[in-house]
Amino acid sequence: MADESCEKLLTAARQARRHALAAYSHFQVGAALETKAGKIITGCNIENASYGLTMCAERVALFKALSEGEREFLRMAIVADTTQPTPPCGACRQILWEFAGDLEIILANLERETARYRLKDLLPVPFDGGILTSAVGRAS
Ligand code: THU
Repeated sequence: MADESCEKLLTAARQARRHALAAYSHFQVGAALETKAGKIITGCNIENASYGLTMCAERVALFKALSEGEREFLRMAIVADTTQPTPPCGACRQILWEFAGDLEIILANLERETARYRLKDLLPVPFDGGILTSAVGRAS
């Protein structure tokens, strides 16, 4: 059973989803990112005729938050109109790991929560800055 603050995050993600610009896939996604201080920043997917320049809801929310100076994050809700959970794509997992670490990821559809994960379980062997700094014989 989702707690009250989680419901607030899910509601924010569902509202953000309504702004999705998904003219090509018609697959609308909303995301809501909660900072450790309790601020909620939302995002929706934004598609492009080139397809490849499409931006997922999760990255829109994260980039908005980062650009507003937010640096510490607690959890992210992701909402799509599916019966099955809609997990973040691989690119979003990588970017979320870089800037938000082991986030709690709450997945939901328009009616209910469908799944809950830790990001480290969705990205179990991450490539990150720690690998770069541990490189043997790297140029100084
Ligand atoms: N999409 C997201 O915004 N987040 C996800 O977690 C999965 C996919 C978007 C990208 C594209 O606009 C549409 O959903 C179909 O892939």
